[in-house]
Formats: sequence, structure tokens, C-alpha cells
Amino acid sequence: MALVTIADAAAILAQGGLVGMPTETVYGLAADALDPAAVARVFAAKGRPAFDPLIVHVADLAQAERVAELSPRARRLAATCWPGPLTLLLPRRDCVPDLVTSGLPTVGVRIPDHPLALALIRAAGRPLAAPSANPFGGLSPTTAQAVLDGLGARIDGVVDGGPCRVGVESTVLRPDPTPLILRPGGLSRERLADLLGEPVAVADRPARQEALPQAAPGMLASHYAPRAPLVLRDGPWPADAALLAFTGRDLPAGATAEILSSAGDDVEAAARLFACLRRLDAAGPARICAELLPPAGLGLAINDRLRRAAGLG
Ligand code: TXA
Ligand code: MG
Repeated sequence: MALVTIADAAAILAQGGLVGMPTETVYGLAADALDPAAVARVFAAKGRPAFDPLIVHVADLAQAERVAELSPRARRLAATCWPGPLTLLLPRRDCVPDLVTSGLPTVGVRIPDHPLALALIRAAGRPLAAPSANPFGGLSPTTAQAVLDGLGARIDGVVDGGPCRVGVESTVLRPDPTPLILRPGGLSRERLADLLGEPVAVADRPARQEALPQAAPGMLASHYAPRAPLVLRDGPWPADAALLAFTGRDLPAGATAEILSSAGDDVEAAARLFACLRRLDAAGPARICAELLPPAGLGLAINDRLRRAAGLG
């Protein structure tokens, strides 16, 4: 198993194999979305329970229409936000295997904003189902090396697209009947509300459960977790932990720490989040202590991942 070219990757996918695919958010573990056996291999490789549906990645709007029905609101969002870090939950068409949607009547669809992802989908000539390319429950990978470290032995190749630009997963939005964010992500709530000219709600736990009765693990309390236990900062920085700081302004001297953005920029912080957590975790600390960001812009997505890493929904 190694780094592969787009042509090799397309050949692997045509045979029902699994390929690590760079996107602007995080690396995905891609399989032919229309081949149930290939999709089953994705669940097996990740150790992911079959009740958690996968996102289908397409290269253009025509391909999106072949797997899902787009409402007028979905169409508006697709026109302005795709390619980009927005997954739309849409009524599925019959060609989408049950395993992809975990039997739900909706399918998550997005056009990724990464030239190699688009090239791979086009070369495969099929929509690609891809969850984040990490073992179930672990940190999402933002480099090809992180994919190899986590899943190398269980997949058929990785396309190296360099570090991911956005760094947190896509925003998962149910557009209808009224816009509802089920997972905050790389496209902010503020931007979505601005584009739509209407309020955009963020689902709390009961609303998530109603939308996804089986409780999707990306929305489970413990997820996106490092190996070391992670606690959220609550007062002064503890002395016995590796620290994940936002701006790092009040870090104690000599602390083992990673700073997400010394300029206090939420976008930079998102791009660095998983790599910083991986580095802290690699040193094998007794625990990691992380501080939350102001809950605006991508701070919402970052805080969501940190809360889940801490085992808090
Ligand atoms: O940025 C991303 O979204 C990355 C890249 C690879 O595209 N993918 C990703 O996939 O994060 P994954 O499987 O790790 O997370 C997808 C989330 C899960 O929480 C899943 O439950 C939810 O989307 N989801 C997918 N289809 C759904 C559906 N039909 N209804 C409700 N939730 C859905
Ligand atoms: Mg994931």
C-alpha cells in the first residue's frame, strides 16, 4: 500500500477497492458509491458501524442530480457553495445503495473543492462515497501520511494532495423544510444565513436525533478523539497536561503546547486543529487540555470537535 497516481486510483476504484482521497476539508476514504460491496469495505476498513451514513462526492451538478433530488433552496446553495465544504442532505434516488445512506431516505452530497478529488471522481466516472479516512472514532487526517498511519494496512492506496486547506470536515446541512445544520463544519453558519437571506439553525442533540434516528457517530458524544484523554479547559491551564491553546497568550512558560492561531484567526485554527492534536497525542501525554474558541465562524465547528473529543456531546 502506498501513494498512487490518479490513474492508479481510478483503476483501484473500478475494481471495488479503497483509496485515500485529498479534499479541501480532510482526507476521505473513497469507494465507488454505487457498488455496495466496495461501500461495505469502507465500513470494514474504518471499523465503522453500518448505521452511520456516508457522504457521496460528485464532480458537478449533473452528477449530483443523478444521486439526489435538489429542491430550489438546495439548488441555490449548490450554485453558490459548491465546490466547497458543504454537504447537503437531499432525497436520494434509487441508484444509491442502502448501505451508503444507512437506509435513510436522504443522501449527503457534496462537490469537494480540491483539484485532485475532482480529477479522481472524473477519472472513476462514478460518484465516490467517502467518510473521513481515519479509524472509527479517531482524529480526521489532514495529510496523506496521517491516512497511512491510521489505515495504511487496510486500504489500496492514497492520492497525496498535500495538507488540507480547511482542516475541519464539511458543514452538514439539511436544507428543507427550513435550513438546519446537523454538523457545524468548514462553511460557517453566518455565511450560510447570509447566502440564503434567512436564519439557519444549528441542531441540538434532540434535533439531531430526530433527523438521524440511528444517531450518526460523527454526531456521537465521543468522536474525533486522540488516544490520550482530552479535557476542556475550565480555569487556569493544568500543569500535568499537554495543552491545545487558541492564541497561546496566557500559556505557562515551558508547557508542552500547540497554538492554533497566535493571530486569533478561526480559519487558521481550523486548518491546524487535527494536525496539532495529532502532534500533542504523539508525545504520549497523560492527558490533553484544550480550550474552546469564541463560538462564531469556524469556532463553532472547532468547538464541536473538541467537545466530542472530550466525550461531551
Ligand atoms: O468534509 C467532509 O465532510 C469529509 C470529506 C472526506 O468529505 N467527510 C466526512 O465524512 O467527514 P464522515 O463520514 O466522517 O462524516 C459524515 C457525517 C456523519 O456524521 C454522517 O452521519 C453525516 O455526515 N451524514 C451523512 N449522510 C447523512 C444523512 N443522510 N443524514 C444525516 N446525516 C448524514
Ligand atoms: Mg469522520
